[in-house]
Amino acid sequence: MYLCLCNAIRDREFADAAKDAQTVADVFKRRGCRPQCGKCVPDVAAIIDETRADADGATAIAAE
Ligand code: FES
Repeated sequence: MYLCLCNAIRDREFADAAKDAQTVADVFKRRGCRPQCGKCVPDVAAIIDETRADADGATAIAAE
């Protein structure tokens, strides 16, 4: 589904761009654009947090 209507970016595309991203601006930069209205910014921040949590969980499992 489209998460950012201003830039026509889907949630999956954000998830791919969020890997190893530190900020929302990083994610938009990887997609070659920047936020316009800002409505999607909290959702993009949540995707970054989820991606980071998933990576931390995978690292913890690999270390076991
Ligand atoms: S919906 Fe993403 S910047 Fe407007």
